Amino acid sequence: MCGIVGYIGKREALPILMDGLRRLEYRGYDSAGVAVLNGDLHVVKAVGKIASLDQALSDLTIPGTNGIAHTRWATHGVPSEENAHPHIDCHGKIALVHNGIIENYSELRESLKVAGHIFRSETDTEVLVHLVEHLLNFPGTTLADAVRSAVRRIRGTYGIAAFRLLEPEQIVVARLGSPIVLGVGDGEMLVASDANAIIGHTRQVVFLDDGEMAVLTADGYRVSSLDNLPVKKSPEQIDWNVEDAQKNGYAHFMLKEMHEQPEVMRNSTRGRLDVTNGNAILGGLRDVADRTREIDRLIIVGCGSAYFAAQVGEYMLEEYAGIPVEVELASEFRYRKPIITARTAVLAVSQSGETADTLAAIREAKMKGALTLGIVNAVGSTIARETDAGVYNHAGPEMGVASTKAFLSQATVFALLTLFLGRQRQMSVTTGTRIAEELARIPDLVAGLLARQDEYRTVAEKYSWAKDFFYLGRKYCAPLAFEGALKLKEVSYIHAEGYGAGEMKHGPIALIDETFPSIVLCPEDSVYEKTKSCIEELRARRGKVIAITTEGNQEIRQIADDVIFIPKTLEMLTPLLAIIPLQLFAYHMSVLRGFDPDRPRNLAKSVTVE
Ligand code: G6P
Repeated sequence: MCGIVGYIGKREALPILMDGLRRLEYRGYDSAGVAVLNGDLHVVKAVGKIASLDQALSDLTIPGTNGIAHTRWATHGVPSEENAHPHIDCHGKIALVHNGIIENYSELRESLKVAGHIFRSETDTEVLVHLVEHLLNFPGTTLADAVRSAVRRIRGTYGIAAFRLLEPEQIVVARLGSPIVLGVGDGEMLVASDANAIIGHTRQVVFLDDGEMAVLTADGYRVSSLDNLPVKKSPEQIDWNVEDAQKNGYAHFMLKEMHEQPEVMRNSTRGRLDVTNGNAILGGLRDVADRTREIDRLIIVGCGSAYFAAQVGEYMLEEYAGIPVEVELASEFRYRKPIITARTAVLAVSQSGETADTLAAIREAKMKGALTLGIVNAVGSTIARETDAGVYNHAGPEMGVASTKAFLSQATVFALLTLFLGRQRQMSVTTGTRIAEELARIPDLVAGLLARQDEYRTVAEKYSWAKDFFYLGRKYCAPLAFEGALKLKEVSYIHAEGYGAGEMKHGPIALIDETFPSIVLCPEDSVYEKTKSCIEELRARRGKVIAITTEGNQEIRQIADDVIFIPKTLEMLTPLLAIIPLQLFAYHMSVLRGFDPDRPRNLAKSVTVE
């Protein structure tokens, strides 16, 4: 989604802004632009990749130590130079970049037009810069005053950075519902919508909260509320570095991140597995342990892959912790009338910790008095800060738009949570120890599966003709079928549907013929025989089957066209292994079809608008 970078200090701003924009590319965008102040206001924009903006800048020399820049993911108006940010006022003296959506933009636009403002784009954002221009007409008004008054008049969400020719020593930023992080350097300040854009320059950061704004100068920052009351905020240290956010020799972030998974799992479980007591030590839940013991219902909310990881969690928690669990799409939960009692906990699962729907669901739950929990990867993100308690994934920054290592770490954290909540209830120490021991073994098994990626590529090559796929699984493998299908759709644009294997015969099987292959998750688990019957039913209709089953199972070889083996483990942990071939199959399919799996069309890494 849209990205913001800004710089003010002693160095040339442009190279820093361009570097920041490149680091935001992973989020998904369709145009980009920069604005630099140097006695004049220079704005350059381009449609397409950052390389196009580089091209547009190649013949220009734009010195200046104060600049703002933006990558745009179109919401209002097509991707075009006019619609790209930064947007400027009528006289080219103020520039502004914005993430989010201004809901009352049409009425504001009409009244500003009546007041004589000339609009150049179709965006909602442009009203903001004209509104700021309009408010600056009042004598004695500073840019900070005007931005403060402007944001009080809009409905919607925003992360904003703006500057002005007449006050060249500052950048004004504000936030409501769209992240803004300040980077504190030595005689310089940076701002971004995502810490990735600035960690190459400083790891001292300040996260703005909703309803806060800040004035940045080369010497520091001043945070205030929208009522202009000072807010004291000290910098925090970010614990990951630039290398974590680079490809390190891999062709794609997606490939690199899949290969990081054994280490990611070790990081997610490090210091948290108490094998002797069959428990998990979750420091982030310590303070609410008395409350988690009392909860009698858990609602888990998430979007995309996080939602499917939550379904894996649901099965684990119900089977081993004995807690009734519901998993809801965050976008549905927020507009329903969920029944929440004092003993309900609502748990948000989110890699970025910024997904607008998930955040709104948590706010709704909090308002209704639920205990709110988070399984979040991005440290310091809004969901991490707004939930009562939670568990970090420790997966490191995930740059691939299609989630891989975050999904695996979410499922891993659910296994830990199952131990934690299970041991607060009826789970015996023996059961807990067995789960903990097995969980500790999984990273090595994952590494073994990753080493066999050529096999998955061979299968992808064999089926690269297919236009449709079913992904089928039952019980713990049902959510994996959904996630596997999502991965294929996201990066290779092949139509794929995930179904519970038992549901096939209730409609979807009508589509099966020799041109419609199925990937069937059929490990030797408690529903093995049932899933095997599903394979037979597909075969009887000439459907091709790629089966994923347990090592040593020769029976499936007789009935499936292709077989991928995974090691034997506890049924509840099977998803942590079976996901690996699904991820690599989707990746190879994408590359075979000539696509860039890191930049899937139309998708954004972090969806910060509704
Ligand atoms: C987007 C991404 C998905 C991700 C989903 C939820 O759609 O493309 O990969 O699963 O958002 O994101 P979150 O950051 O909340 O986990």
